[in-house]
Amino acid sequence: MTLAATVLLVTIAMVVAVSNPGSSAESAAPVESQLERGQAVYAFSCTTCHGATGQGFDEARAAFPADHYDCTRCHGPLNPPVMSVEMIAQTQTVFSLGNAPALADGEALSKYGSAAGLYAYVRATMPRWDPGRLDDDAYLDVTAFVLHLAGLLPEGAPELTHEGLVAFDLAAAAD
Ligand code: HEC
Ligand code: HEC
Repeated sequence: MTLAATVLLVTIAMVVAVSNPGSSAESAAPVESQLERGQAVYAFSCTTCHGATGQGFDEARAAFPADHYDCTRCHGPLNPPVMSVEMIAQTQTVFSLGNAPALADGEALSKYGSAAGLYAYVRATMPRWDPGRLDDDAYLDVTAFVLHLAGLLPEGAPELTHEGLVAFDLAAAAD
């Protein structure tokens, strides 16, 4: 490569770096925009069982129309939490819903130890009928939103990052 070409490439790289400051500033971004993303994930994947404000199954159920109010008519309570399409077709019933607990409860959530424990639980088991359907960043955002519902995330806190999960002590935050 000629010297002129090298200089040109370096210059382009610098311009790109300067015009895209997002990557370096990301860890210090305030949590509010993450909570907006997390709320959207929650509304799509969690509200139907835990309720829009995280009060638990009764809140969720109350939002359904009257003809759907009797959930167990279709969601057989003795069915497994996850059912294949074939199993649904065969039994003409769908997965059990369980009794989704309130998430707006900092004391209850502190049993997961750290935000890493909560994230790992949610990623491995939720949404209960199709665990693992979200990508890692969506699980991170919804974990932040759950912490917010539980009052464990102070306003103006920095965004939750994958690296920062372990150091986020839930018992200390609940105090
Ligand atoms: C089909 C209903 C259903 C959906 C949808 C669902 N959950 Fe759950 N969730 C439950 C039930 C039931 C439990 C109690 C444990 C169990 O039976 O698996 C639970 C437990 C939890 C817990 C543990 C609470 C505690 O106090 O220990 C968390 C956190 C949680 N869910 C978060 C989520 C998130 C976040 C989503 C969306 C990504 C979600 N759940 C979607 C039914 C659901
Ligand atoms: C008339 C039958 C019927 C009734 C009643 C019913 N459901 Fe469902 N539900 C279904 C079917 C069918 C699916 C889709 C299953 C699939 O795609 O695998 C479903 C899917 C779901 C899902 C997963 C998709 C999502 O939107 O998150 C949840 C959670 C759920 N139902 C909650 C409830 C709750 C809570 C009630 C009671 C308030 C209820 N359902 C009442 C038939 C029913």
